[in-house]
Amino acid sequence: MKTKPIILALGSVFGAAAIGYATLAAAAGGFPALGPLPPPPIPADNPMTPEKIELGKMLFWDSRLGGDASSPCAVCHEPSKGWGDGGEISRGYPGTQHWRNSQTILNSAYYNKLFWEGNVTSLEQQAPAAAEGNVAGNGDRSLMEMRLRFIPEYVERFKKVFGADWPRMTHAYMAIAAFERTIVSDAKQVPFDRFTKGDKKALSESAQRGMALYNGKAGCIQCHNGPLASDQRFYALGVPENEVFKTEPLYQITHRWEHYQKGIDEKGYRGADWDYGLYYRTKNPKDKAKFRTPSLRELKYSAPYMHNGVFYTLDEVVDFYNKGGGASPYKSPQIKPLGLTDQEKKDLVAFLESLSMDKPILMDPPKLPPYAVMK
Ligand code: HEC
Ligand code: HEC
Repeated sequence: MKTKPIILALGSVFGAAAIGYATLAAAAGGFPALGPLPPPPIPADNPMTPEKIELGKMLFWDSRLGGDASSPCAVCHEPSKGWGDGGEISRGYPGTQHWRNSQTILNSAYYNKLFWEGNVTSLEQQAPAAAEGNVAGNGDRSLMEMRLRFIPEYVERFKKVFGADWPRMTHAYMAIAAFERTIVSDAKQVPFDRFTKGDKKALSESAQRGMALYNGKAGCIQCHNGPLASDQRFYALGVPENEVFKTEPLYQITHRWEHYQKGIDEKGYRGADWDYGLYYRTKNPKDKAKFRTPSLRELKYSAPYMHNGVFYTLDEVVDFYNKGGGASPYKSPQIKPLGLTDQEKKDLVAFLESLSMDKPILMDPPKLPPYAVMK
């Protein structure tokens, strides 16, 4: 990965409070600047309608999408837990453990590479991977479809939204994707976004200094760039392993099983003790332990952090970067000691916090329709 030069002294740029996009772009030193998110892209073959979004919301909470009716999307993507599950490693389908941290679905509408290893390219493709994946929803597609067909209200709703006589899983996944596209940051509520639009008081002095560090000395902009604060590329930081894999058989079982599913050779499979990340897809040794750069929006609500949830606070994350990341033979060259002072670390954290909404997006579960006997 090539490294672009970074502008180091930026204090003066941010002295003036109302800053335009040109200023932000200059500060970003050639990387796509942070800035308010545009509306999310909507695929031409899955346009948004209020009825579709409402149906998608119901399905997101409906445990009948899944194997034993215990694991709807919402149990691992809870609004009150920043739309993740709040744990280090996500819960798994009953009888299993997951092996990665549950990502927030907030702003997932903006990614074209989903999951920590970026292996699907749209929310429409992601939803079946979740509902049918063995350690997540573990649902059988034809059985889930049959369940939906025995719920008269769904039959009617699917017909209205998709024009088909019976509910189909493909349509269910489209509706869920449409719903997810509504779970996005509201720029009016994000201090950084308000600041970029000219609200001088939106960022504290400390957060403004943090912004300069982000774009300069700390170099976060190299990867966490653009309005989403993610370049959607893959890097190894040397994040420490989560110890639970050394002690808990259920975690080890999933880990070994994933290695088997993802076609790791016998040697790697037997020695399975860490997450190979992007390598599973490319089988290129250079890609070992690389993960997709996550967005840094809404971090206030989505702890713990990293693919294995090892960090609980932003102070810990900043300390980790300040030390030059962890020990890994595959570590990306951009990750090196930063030499930040204690005050600078605080400033950087203050800036990261300004990328979250003032309040979390909360939502009550929808009322779900009952089954009925069909004639
Ligand atoms: C048992 C817990 C569990 C369930 C159930 C579950 N998820 Fe997830 N979800 C996860 C985990 C863990 C990840 C990260 C997995 C990985 O990268 O390997 C994830 C990742 C995602 C992502 C990717 C976000 C990003 O930043 O790339 C989306 C979107 C998502 N889930 C939506 C859903 C939907 C929709 C459903 C229901 C159909 C669902 N999930 C069901 C645990 C779960
Ligand atoms: C070389 C690219 C790169 C640079 C530079 C970089 N990051 Fe990251 N960042 C990543 C990747 C990749 C991950 C996910 C790593 C993982 O889970 O193993 C990540 C994860 C994070 C997370 C956790 C987010 C979550 O939702 O779990 C935070 C917070 C973060 N970075 C902040 C920063 C800050 C602050 C800086 C600057 C000091 C920075 N990053 C510099 C690539 C980078």
